[in-house]
Amino acid sequence: MSKIHAAITGVAGYMPDYVLTNQELSTMVDTNDEWITTRTGIKERRILKGEGKGTSDMAYKAVNELLAKTNTQPEEVDLIICATVTPDHVFPATANLIAAKTGCVNAFNYDIGAACSGFIYALSSGATFIESGRYKKVVVVGADKMSSIIDYTDRTTCIIFGDGAGAVMLEPTEEEVGIIDFMHKSDGNGVEFLRMKAGGSSYPATHDTVENREHYVFQDGKTVFKFAVTNMADYAAKIMERNNLTGDDVDWLVAHQANKRIIDATSNRMGINDEKVMMNIERYGNTTSATIPTLLWDYESQLKKGDNLVLAAFGGGFTWGALYVKWAYDPK
Ligand code: UT7
Repeated sequence: MSKIHAAITGVAGYMPDYVLTNQELSTMVDTNDEWITTRTGIKERRILKGEGKGTSDMAYKAVNELLAKTNTQPEEVDLIICATVTPDHVFPATANLIAAKTGCVNAFNYDIGAACSGFIYALSSGATFIESGRYKKVVVVGADKMSSIIDYTDRTTCIIFGDGAGAVMLEPTEEEVGIIDFMHKSDGNGVEFLRMKAGGSSYPATHDTVENREHYVFQDGKTVFKFAVTNMADYAAKIMERNNLTGDDVDWLVAHQANKRIIDATSNRMGINDEKVMMNIERYGNTTSATIPTLLWDYESQLKKGDNLVLAAFGGGFTWGALYVKWAYDPK
């Protein structure tokens, strides 16, 4: 019997309506459109507004669209994995809330926390469940309400992040398409350079942690930039090498949208042209777990069956990795 592959059979997304422009940010902190555009490539980002609204409120909309697009009844879904660093609650898992809101009553669900690499870690985990032959429909979500953990008085972080959600369906196939290969890596020594210090078990919330603004993202941008450039490009190149792919063989680079300069360095290292590089950082900023599925969502109509995609990410932790994906369907 031939090997079972996990094919991506559909993709969907959700972006909140509110557009936070560079212009509006320049009224909040000492920054300007020119600095943000040249240093990051970002022009605007989306923000989820509304009392009591959390990550699951964006994610369930993406999953509803995914179920409709793939003609899937909610009861057929076996598993939902949600990558997020901004769960609705510390527990229960946001994936479980998504399942309840979409009627996926037969699924078991859990979250993955790997910061900006969360979606690629979740995708390879979901693929492994499919390849085992045990499950037939796995929904992989990447969703973050970054605005809930961003300090809008800190110009070094508030210009970067935005909110959003994306989701893909994984199903088994015996064709040579789907998730072909993946390589991941983590390094816990990166903790001090990119993290939200308080709110976990080592620094539970107190008046002091709130006063010291420790419930927000802290990033040593320069250090993270250096690690991101090296490691994301390294793993994208490694997965190509392991699968005998040259720059000409790769149809699309689908890279985490943290900074346009990091994405450019990665595509240079891979030897691929700009027109093969998916990009939505200009409109959405860095949506953490949602960057890669929303890229697939935005570019879906341009993807053809058999296209070679390299997915690559780098994030807090540190975490990083790359996947080789053969696209499984033509535009519908
Ligand atoms: O997604 C997870 C992983 N995260 C990443 O991959 C992000 C990696 N890091 C980065 O993308 C970049 O480091 C940033 C975009 C965060 C910062 O860009 P940079 O080119 O590394 O700037 P910098 O931190 O070296 O700052 C340069 C200057 C500083 O001023 P001085 O010290 O040279 O006078 C900053 O104070 O720019 C200043 N600055 C700003 N100026 C205007 C910092 N933020 C701003 C701002 N507007 N928003």
